[in-house]
Amino acid sequence: MDSNLGIPTWEQRRTRHQVKKDVQARHLKQDQYWTQIYLAKKQQKQTKRVSLVNNPNVLLHTFTEVVPVNKEMADLKKRAQQVAAAYQNNNNRNVVLYSKQSGNGKTLLASCILAEVGKSPAAAMTTMFVSTTQIKNLVNKKFDNTERQDDLYGVGDELDEFERNAGRVDLLVLDDLGTESSLKTGGVSPANQTISEKLFNIAEKREFKPTIITTNYTGDELKKIYNNKIIDRLMPTNPAQVLNFENVPSYRRN
Ligand SMILES: Nc1ncnc2c1ncn2[C@@H]1O[C@H](COP(=O)(O)OP(=O)(O)OP(=O)(O)O)[C@@H](O)[C@H]1O
Ligand SMILES: [Mg+2]
Repeated sequence: MDSNLGIPTWEQRRTRHQVKKDVQARHLKQDQYWTQIYLAKKQQKQTKRVSLVNNPNVLLHTFTEVVPVNKEMADLKKRAQQVAAAYQNNNNRNVVLYSKQSGNGKTLLASCILAEVGKSPAAAMTTMFVSTTQIKNLVNKKFDNTERQDDLYGVGDELDEFERNAGRVDLLVLDDLGTESSLKTGGVSPANQTISEKLFNIAEKREFKPTIITTNYTGDELKKIYNNKIIDRLMPTNPAQVLNFENVPSYRRN
């Protein structure tokens, strides 16, 4: 017969206590894990909702898929990862990814930074990716629509909403800046007035918030396309904030 009448010994109590603590710790870990996944999903949805992209796949890139072709690209990838880490730690400097040639990974690395920042629950930053050619589409739609007094499709609202979101998000990517104005002419030509106004308002609102730009144009060329004031506000000149892709070959198959 049990000599202590079913009263657990000190040793048994200690073991039960330990098991309980272990289970609690495991649940907490699982909670944290699911919270992290929940926040990352929420972030992805938020980004998808506000972004204006030519191709939605651009929001799905991650650093792991970036295979550097040469030393320059390896270095640029590393710097892009450092930029993402800096943004998560409240370092709000603008960054530009530049090269005259296309197809060498500017958009890819910009979207990797965005995704990396977005999935950090500690930083909890809202993000938005904008292909500048899409701004032009919105503007064209708005003006095609002016004959309709009723603006049935609310296109004017879409443009205002874009401006509001782009001014408000914690991190904005402006992809292919300048391209929307030069697609037709092939050269550097002044941008549409409405686009310039929108960009100016956005740049003003983002004074203390980081913006990433990808472009095939130098700062001087961009100043011919947009007003100086816009470019002065958006384009960093400090070499530490310029990621130059000139020495990276194109990934696109010819
Ligand atoms: N390092 C890389 N590893 C794997 N794929 C890459 C890499 N760099 C670029 N790519 C792929 O090559 C294609 C072109 O890259 P991307 O769109 O980023 O070029 P870009 O520099 O933005 O060109 P553009 O000046 O025309 O905008 C994309 O499909 C991209 O995913
Ligand atoms: Mg690009």
